Amino acid sequence: MKKIAVLNNKGGVGKSTVAVQLSHGLAKLGFKVILVDLDGQNDSSLFLGIQEADYKKTFFDLINRRDPVTIDECIIEAREGLDLLPNSHIEEINSEFYREARIDLVLSEKLQGLEEMDYDYVIVDCGPQRTKINDAVLCYVDSIIMPVQVEAAAVRACGSIYEYLSDLRLTPDKIALIIPNMYDKRTKDAKENLMFLHEFFGDEGLVTEPINRRVKITEAGKMGKTVFEYDQEAAQQFFKVLERLVERVV
Ligand SMILES: Nc1ncnc2c1ncn2[C@@H]1O[C@H](COP(=O)(O)OP(=O)(O)OP(=O)(O)O)[C@@H](O)[C@H]1O
Ligand SMILES: [Mg+2]
Repeated sequence: MKKIAVLNNKGGVGKSTVAVQLSHGLAKLGFKVILVDLDGQNDSSLFLGIQEADYKKTFFDLINRRDPVTIDECIIEAREGLDLLPNSHIEEINSEFYREARIDLVLSEKLQGLEEMDYDYVIVDCGPQRTKINDAVLCYVDSIIMPVQVEAAAVRACGSIYEYLSDLRLTPDKIALIIPNMYDKRTKDAKENLMFLHEFFGDEGLVTEPINRRVKITEAGKMGKTVFEYDQEAAQQFFKVLERLVERVV
């Protein structure tokens, strides 16, 4: 079972979008996947068309000592081959994690039940900024996928992931893929920013082909559909990224 975080400290760069598309894409390739939504706005759940009213129990109930539940009570089948573990009360989860003595072990413990459920991939959608939850996620996963908006400020800030990892005493080899997102190939600015990303991350295999900025991607999210259900062109771009993912995350 491969554990992957989709993370970037910056907000609105496409973490939830990428987490959803890659999760559904992996399921379409025949893998068994669970998407753990730890983004406080429940965006990845919403992008899959799953609303709060559809949840029975969530990750919050899983860590609630007063009324504990088992992990299978929290899991929702989102698509064929793709399950979802939704969240609620994100601030309370974060406060609870502050009280944990071993932030490095907390998620392995809380998600222990997944180990016996024959998933090939656990994909965790993270909220922005440094939080106790994200600290725990980074310690839990084997690999990090970082979507970066191809725009000057976002590209300049992408090096902060190294600092974050180092503060947690984790090594940078966890970074498996950098996905340039919201790329607009018509502008010179976008081309320069993409080039900067390649120079910055050096290693040829790390930076994937960009995902273009497409209105249809935004529309798909709003409608609770994935690109595989709504936008063939974006689906092709995500399949290219998926090839790289399967190759690099071993
Ligand atoms: N390639 C793209 N083309 C067009 N719109 C996109 C693209 N990627 C993401 N979006 C849109 O941009 C918005 C932000 O994306 P998303 O919610 O995935 O970002 P995020 O990094 O998860 O944000 P947050 O930090 O709030 O969790 C959404 O409306 C999404 O539909
Ligand atoms: Mg998000």
